[in-house]
Amino acid sequence: MVLQVRNVTRLFGTKAAVNDISFTVEKPAFIGIIGRSGAGKSTFLRMMNRLTDATSGEIRFEGRNVLALHGAEKRDWQSQCAMIFQQFNLVPRMDVASNVLHGTLNRRSTLSTMFSFWPDDDVLKALAILDRLGIAEQATKRAEALSGGQQQRVAIARALMQDPKVILADEPIASLDPMNAQVVMDSLRRIHDEDGRMVIANLHTLDTARRYCDRVIGMRDGRIVFDGAPDQLTTGVARDIYGADASFSESATSTSIDALPSEADAEYARRMLV
Ligand SMILES: Nc1ncnc2c1ncn2[C@@H]1O[C@H](COP(=O)(O)OP(=O)(O)OP(=O)(O)O)[C@@H](O)[C@H]1O
Ligand SMILES: [Mg+2]
Repeated sequence: MVLQVRNVTRLFGTKAAVNDISFTVEKPAFIGIIGRSGAGKSTFLRMMNRLTDATSGEIRFEGRNVLALHGAEKRDWQSQCAMIFQQFNLVPRMDVASNVLHGTLNRRSTLSTMFSFWPDDDVLKALAILDRLGIAEQATKRAEALSGGQQQRVAIARALMQDPKVILADEPIASLDPMNAQVVMDSLRRIHDEDGRMVIANLHTLDTARRYCDRVIGMRDGRIVFDGAPDQLTTGVARDIYGADASFSESATSTSIDALPSEADAEYARRMLV
């Protein structure tokens, strides 16, 4: 068992943003979390990475309750579970390579960071990771000069510098056009497939969840209302997750990555028609 989430709750005042959720993951998987705005998706990721404290419950990763860690152990866990965000969170005026090298900050002294003394090994590693993500030629450019899709790949590269066991992605493609969204999701999927790192991604669109995830968790009002394989995610189930009324339409939850057709999508569409 890699991950055990047990009865995790987060209250803000009297409102439960996450309300007694439990699930287990047997081996590192690519997991999508979907649900309408306010369902509790970000709050869950932030608790897992310890950016926010849980009110109660346990999150066990490889047996250890990460919600109970303090000090150096907590920081160690945070470097093992890297986070990427919708808005990339890069330093805009800094060059791409330095942004990536900041992924090593948790194990570096303040002084060497202030003067940007990066060890050669780290520089080579950063360049290799950028190369792997197809953006090595951007290494010396300022982050702000890159397209959104390139910037998100820089953020993924920065996460990989930590050599994380888990990548938590909070709506990683919500600010991207369909073409860039596909490149970024392909990158995350490839990292999962090749390195065996677990990915948990909050996704605001059904089609992306269906296309990239091994397993999809649907949240509504802080609770898990669906947990299954992507092909179980029928329109009826989706309507239940999103709590939508008769006006519900799949297009409202689509990034239109579907506009770039693939055989898998065509096959899926055929199944949905019968
Ligand atoms: N710091 C906070 N203080 C008070 N309430 C909060 C705070 N953070 C989140 N909430 C509330 O908790 C609930 C869940 O929020 P959360 O951000 O986890 O939802 P989400 O599923 O990520 O939504 P979105 O799709 O809009 O990102 C919402 O009702 C939100 O208003
Ligand atoms: Mg959110």
